[in-house]
Amino acid sequence: MLSATLALDPAFRIAEVNARIFGSFVEHLGRCVHTGIHEPGHPRADKDGLRLDVLDLVRELGVTTVRYPGGSFVSGFRWEDSVGPVAERPTRLDLAWHSSEPNTFGLHEFMTWTAKAGVEPMMAVNLGTRGVAEAVDLMEYCNHPQGTALSDRRITNGAKEPFGIRMWCLGNEMDGPWQTGHKTADEYGRLAAETARAMRMFGPGLELVACGSSARDMPTFGSWEATVLEHTYDQVDLISCHAYYEEKDGDLAGFLASAVDMDNFIDAVVATADHVRAKVRGRKRIDISFDEWNVWYMSKAEDSRPRDGWPVAARIIEDEYDVADAVVVGGLLISLLRHSDRVTAACMAQLVNAIAPIRTEPGGPAWRQTTFHPFAQAARHAKGTVLRTEVTAPSHETSAYGEVTAVDAVATHDEDNRSLTVLAVNRHPGEPVALGLGLRCFPGYELVEHSVLYDDDIRATNTLHRPDRVVPRRQASTGPVDGEQLTALLPPISWNVLRLRRAAA
Ligand code: AHR
Repeated sequence: MLSATLALDPAFRIAEVNARIFGSFVEHLGRCVHTGIHEPGHPRADKDGLRLDVLDLVRELGVTTVRYPGGSFVSGFRWEDSVGPVAERPTRLDLAWHSSEPNTFGLHEFMTWTAKAGVEPMMAVNLGTRGVAEAVDLMEYCNHPQGTALSDRRITNGAKEPFGIRMWCLGNEMDGPWQTGHKTADEYGRLAAETARAMRMFGPGLELVACGSSARDMPTFGSWEATVLEHTYDQVDLISCHAYYEEKDGDLAGFLASAVDMDNFIDAVVATADHVRAKVRGRKRIDISFDEWNVWYMSKAEDSRPRDGWPVAARIIEDEYDVADAVVVGGLLISLLRHSDRVTAACMAQLVNAIAPIRTEPGGPAWRQTTFHPFAQAARHAKGTVLRTEVTAPSHETSAYGEVTAVDAVATHDEDNRSLTVLAVNRHPGEPVALGLGLRCFPGYELVEHSVLYDDDIRATNTLHRPDRVVPRRQASTGPVDGEQLTALLPPISWNVLRLRRAAA
C-alpha cells in the first residue's frame, strides 16, 4: 500500500478562513432560477414562489455569498425589466443562452431570496451592451435610501429599506469572444475604471471586482489582467478568475489533479497583480475573486443549448456528477483554501440545476448531487485559521500535469474551539494510501470523525430515483491517535474530512 505523511503545525498560518470562499452563483441560465430556486405553484413554494426544499438545501450547503444575475446573461441584461409589477415586466431574448427571459423573478425577488437563504448578494452590472450610466442607476436604485427618482421607485416597488449591496462585479468575462459586447483589455479596462470611479462616488464601503480571464488557456491570459489592472488598480479591490474542469482524452489521473491547474492559475494572477502594483506604485493589494469554478462537461454544452426557438427555462447544461467529479470539487476547495491569503471570495458555479450541486424537478423533489457533499462539509468544518501543510506522498504520472502527488490536503485550526480539520483527497486513480498525520504540535487532540466519500463505482451518481446513492460515510477503521500520529486509510479517488478535537482543560 502507498503511504504518505502530513506535517501540521499551528504556527504555519496562511490566513483566517474567509467565509466568502464558500460562495455560489445564480444566473438566469436554463433552470437555475425558473423551476430551480423559484417555482410558483410548486407544492413546497412559499407565498413568494420560492422553493422551500431548495432553500433548505442551500442552507445545508453552507453557501455564504451568491453572485447574480450572470454570467454571460448579465452582458445583455436590462435591470429595469426585472423590477415593478410582475405582470408589466417584458419578456426579452437572452442571447447568451438562446432563451427567453420572462423577468418574473428579478431584483426584488432575488433580494427576498437572499434574506431567506441567509446569504450575501454579489451583484454583477452589465458592461457588455451597457455602461457607466446604467451601472450607477442600478446602484442608486439598490443602495440610495430615498428621495430620488430611482430610490423612490424601489420603495414604490416594495423595498422601503435600501438593499445595501457591497460587492459588485464590473461585467462578466469581457475577454471572451462569446460574450455580448466583448472588448479588448484596453477597452474594458477604461470602461471598468470609469464605472468603478462613478460607483465609488456614492460613498465608501463598496468592494468592486474587475473581470480577469475567463480561463487560464485564453490567448490573452496574463496580459489581460496586467492591462485591466493598469487601468483600474486604484478603483477596484479584486480581480476575477474563472475555471471549469472536465475529464479530457481519457486522462482520469489528470482530471483528478485539476487543483494543480487552479494552484497555477491563482499563483500567476497574484504575480501579475503584484507586478502591476509595483508598476503603478499601488498602495493596496489586489485580491482574487474566483467567482466561477466547478466541474463542467463543457464539451457537451453546445449540444445542450436550445437549437430551436427561444424557450423559457430549458434543460441547459444539467450535468450529472459522479464520485470522481466530487473528488475533483474537493481538490478545488483545498486549492482555494490553501490560497486564502489572496483568494478572498469564490463562487462555485452554479447553485441549482445548471452545473450545480443541487438538482430539482419541476413540481417534484430537490436532491443533492455528489458534488454537494465536499462543499457542504468544507463550509461546515473548515473554521478558524488555514494552515500550510507539508504533504509527503508518492507521485504518479498524468498527461495534463506530469507527476502529481497522490494526496493533496489542507488543514484549518479553530483555536477557540480546540478543533482541527484536515481536508484531503486521494487522487490516485487506483491505489489506497495510508496517510499519517503528524500531531506532535497538537498534543491532546483526538479523532472526532473520519468521513470519506468513496465508491467502488467511481461513475456512481445521485439521481431523482436514487438521490442518496453517493454520500460521505464514517471511516470506522481510522484512529485512535497513537502517540503523536493518526493513521487514516484514504481509498483511491476519495474525498476525506478528518476532524480532531482537544477536550477542554
Ligand atoms: O457558468 C456558466 C457560464 O460560464 C457563465 O454564464 C459564464 O460567465 C461562463 O462562461
